[in-house]
Amino acid sequence: MAYPYRDEREVRILSAHFGDPEARTLAGWRQRGGYEALGQALALSPEQVTEIVKNSALRGRGGAGFPTGLKWSFLRNDGRPHYVLVNSDESEPGAFKDRELCRWTPHQLLEGALINAYAIRAQHVYIYMRGEFFEPAQIVARAIDEAYAAGIAGPDVLGSGVTIDVTLHLGAGAYICGEETALMNSLEGRRGQPRVKPPFPAVFGAFGQPTNINNVETLCTVPHIIRNGADWWRSIGTDKSTGTKLFNMSGHLVRRGNFEFPLGFNMKELIYDVCGGIRDGRSLKAVIPGGSSVPMLAAHELDIPCAYERVATAGSKLGTASMIVMDDRTDIVKQVRRMVEFYAHESCGQCTPCREGTAWLARIMRRIEAGQGTEADLALLVDLGKNMTGTTICVLSDSAAAPVLSSLAKFKDEYLALIGRAAPVAAAV
Ligand SMILES: Cc1cc2nc3c(=O)[nH]c(=O)nc-3n(C[C@H](O)[C@H](O)[C@H](O)COP(=O)(O)O)c2cc1C
Ligand code: SF4
Repeated sequence: MAYPYRDEREVRILSAHFGDPEARTLAGWRQRGGYEALGQALALSPEQVTEIVKNSALRGRGGAGFPTGLKWSFLRNDGRPHYVLVNSDESEPGAFKDRELCRWTPHQLLEGALINAYAIRAQHVYIYMRGEFFEPAQIVARAIDEAYAAGIAGPDVLGSGVTIDVTLHLGAGAYICGEETALMNSLEGRRGQPRVKPPFPAVFGAFGQPTNINNVETLCTVPHIIRNGADWWRSIGTDKSTGTKLFNMSGHLVRRGNFEFPLGFNMKELIYDVCGGIRDGRSLKAVIPGGSSVPMLAAHELDIPCAYERVATAGSKLGTASMIVMDDRTDIVKQVRRMVEFYAHESCGQCTPCREGTAWLARIMRRIEAGQGTEADLALLVDLGKNMTGTTICVLSDSAAAPVLSSLAKFKDEYLALIGRAAPVAAAV
């Protein structure tokens, strides 16, 4: 992935060292100010560290945008073993930021995770990484070894007397294991299925003990906040969406890749100025702004700030800010069918609306794409999609319904054009 392109409005904090192999090593990271924030945190009380993160108004980068400091504050000083889980599963179609953070700045992640562990009095950090991330896993494993050898992880973190162990755990490539409680089950050696909540992880998490789980990007942000202060972080972005965010831009763009901008940056400018617009001189049809699980937006809806609150007002979600950009040649029905098939394959099968719903969505979408659908199928898709939303243990079911419902609302003409018309090629791609 190329990182040389630079827009003058870009603010590289987390990605400042992308493309720089020296930053991967402990010596290189320390030369760049690495682990100073951990030292600063250890000089404070755990509650003070949590308070700084709370005051920064940092929101989790794993998709839901939950306030990070608030989540940390749910863990009580109760004498029970506590755990930090780092969610590095990143299987959402369109998302490719966490793997880059792990590849280029493994110590940035370790530092954030160690600060989190200190703040919630955890003695063990588990980094749960998607099994296919072979290269990032090797890089992170090397960084963990370096951190142990230098006394940054282990029995006496930076001479503070605090013990924090770090274990890297590889998953086996199931999308559902990115859901926080499925991840815990998988880590424990059980089947990777989401748990019913409550109880929430802060009370009953990994191994039945209080646990905090955060996304890789969230934790990579923490050392910068500790070093520069909560006010500094809040001075970037918007009131409700503070700081910078990695925007993972993919699809029919001239320039694709990760770009770090303050939250609130205009979506259209991101697409046209930063990413150079639509390639091959084509025009824009639609964007999925936050990874495949969020509703799509049509071309005329994109003049909005990329902030959690503003994308929600426009009828979608910022999610992981993994934008899939589609040009005017895109066959929306085909793309939605492919997404639905992904979710049908990845459903863990516990909940009837999800298990049956995703399979039926896929079947009906295939029928329509093959020119054998009817108008009644469109009504059936809407009915199914609504019944799959808000009715299950986790939101995979909602995620499968989102592209169907939003595409039917915005691109119904493409569905109607296929009704009653047999397609020349079987829809199997
Ligand atoms: C089906 C599903 C898959 C998910 N996959 C991921 C993932 O790969 N990485 C991630 O960080 N969060 C993922 N999440 C969100 C996590 O459950 C959780 O909210 C997140 O790790 C919390 O971290 P944050 O507060 O730092 O955002 C997923 C959620 C669902 C429902
Ligand atoms: S919604 Fe789907 S993936 Fe989530 S727990 Fe239920 S069946 Fe499993």
